[in-house]
Amino acid sequence: MANTVDLRSDTVTKPSPAMREEMARAEVGDDVYREDPTVNRLQKLVAELLGKEAGLFMPSGTMSNQVAVRAACRGAEAICDAEGHTFHYEMAGAAARSGIQLFPVAGERGVLTWADVEGAIRPVADYFPRTGLICLENTHNRAGGTVYPLDVMADVGEKARARGIPVHLDGARLWNAAVATGVPLSAYAACADSVSVCFSKGLGAPVGSCLCGTREFVEEAIMVRRSFGGAMRQAGVLAAAALYAVEHNVDRLADDHRRAGALAEGLADIAVFAVEPPQTNIVMVDVVNEAVAAAALTDFLEEAGILVHAVGPRRIRAVTHLDLDDADVERALRAFEDAVARLRPS
Ligand SMILES: Cc1ncc(COP(=O)(O)O)c(C=O)c1O
Repeated sequence: MANTVDLRSDTVTKPSPAMREEMARAEVGDDVYREDPTVNRLQKLVAELLGKEAGLFMPSGTMSNQVAVRAACRGAEAICDAEGHTFHYEMAGAAARSGIQLFPVAGERGVLTWADVEGAIRPVADYFPRTGLICLENTHNRAGGTVYPLDVMADVGEKARARGIPVHLDGARLWNAAVATGVPLSAYAACADSVSVCFSKGLGAPVGSCLCGTREFVEEAIMVRRSFGGAMRQAGVLAAAALYAVEHNVDRLADDHRRAGALAEGLADIAVFAVEPPQTNIVMVDVVNEAVAAAALTDFLEEAGILVHAVGPRRIRAVTHLDLDDADVERALRAFEDAVARLRPS
């Protein structure tokens, strides 16, 4: 629909004309032979940004996490946050594809402390599965774009290392965490053995993620990616978009965070909503009035050209991104007010 304000996700953005030009211009080769110069440039750049030895271009964040879990998990069980993406949205892939059971542990707004993790590490016994991996997520999608405090993450990383258990970081939106806090990407990445970052969320590229770690880990990941059907050929046209995104669209995430803050502030003024101030670009809106259902509200909003995502019967998610401006946020706020007035006539 024309004039739609699409707040469902930061994955809905369209590649800009400048990004498309870079894609058209990209030098390409067969990446299965490791001969695509644009893919190679992207992998090297992202690995450097994260302070890792090597990187691997992936078709999606889901495949990136799934390859990481398979390549890194040195046991039968991987600990993850109970609200984590790997647990909720990856189609039981760890179990289905890799014979790995996830052990979901309830964290606080997506943050697992070492105490949380330690309690889930299996004692060595011939009747327990062996704990082989710890998965963290920063920023945290279902918790509402929350940032993992660096000291908590470093503590988990250090103590996991001492126990010989690798850590995987789902950093689909690690860029947002870095921009929100000023903490370098590499400082977060240092807490984990493998890190996956996405280009197709707030950075606005159409496709792609990068999985980074040691050279040895990435060699293993190349084979796992192949076995998952994720090896690509002239992927440089996609890597060019990702390179453009990393080079042009990181700092501007601060605008998305500011707009998410403005949206949350406006929504908090509407009596039927409870809204936590967002830490990054994801606003979670709880509908606290029993008379108003999230699904009915999203239907009214859609009629007004405002798209949001009902993530639960009483919870709505709105995500800011680079295809939105201040006027769109204002328009969304007015539509929320109108929808609530229609659902709750005074
Ligand atoms: C935290 C997180 N990890 C991974 C993914 C998966 O990315 P993709 O949709 O590219 O598979 C998402 C998607 O929204 C996400 O929010």
